[in-house]
Amino acid sequence: MAAERVLISSEQIQKRIREMAAEIESDYPEGPIYLVSILKGAFIFLADLARALKRPTVRIEFMAISSYGMEKTSSGQVKLTRDLDVNIEGHDVLLVEDIIDSGVTLTYLKGLLEQRRPRSLEIATLLDKPERRIKPVKVKYIGFQIPDEFVVGYGLDYAEDYRNLSDIRVLSN
Ligand code: IMP
Ligand code: MG
Repeated sequence: MAAERVLISSEQIQKRIREMAAEIESDYPEGPIYLVSILKGAFIFLADLARALKRPTVRIEFMAISSYGMEKTSSGQVKLTRDLDVNIEGHDVLLVEDIIDSGVTLTYLKGLLEQRRPRSLEIATLLDKPERRIKPVKVKYIGFQIPDEFVVGYGLDYAEDYRNLSDIRVLSN
């Protein structure tokens, strides 16, 4: 088992999510916000962010893409394995992601969803590794910028383990 060290505590995460939710609430007009989340890594962030939003019209939708598998680095290829089952045309859509690394995933998803003509399309990510960016992508809401280290916990996995941890940890071997 690899060593782990806590990078962001569960208290820090929850505090930051409350701040992000307050910002989102004040940016969006009344009415539904479609939180579109990408399985599986974003599921815990999505659940906490959704509950921190106070309006009742928060819609929860999921997409899935092919993952890194057992590797720590991206294949650079994104494959959609589960599409939305709602029409987002004319709606305010907020893509909810766990982490932006190369930016390949979000560039692809943003392009795909933009073709469906939502009223607005923005991105909220819990974590951002700016040093790793290959594809520039505009991200409106960022929880934490982190150094170029492989992190796990709070939804993020390494080979499907560690997702259940309530803090973010750095994995080293
Ligand atoms: P990107 O396409 O390179 O931006 O990759 C984004 C996806 O890679 C995220 O949704 C995660 O699933 C995965 N990922 C990137 N960095 C990490 C990490 O440090 N730990 C766990 N998963 C990661
Ligand atoms: Mg992942």
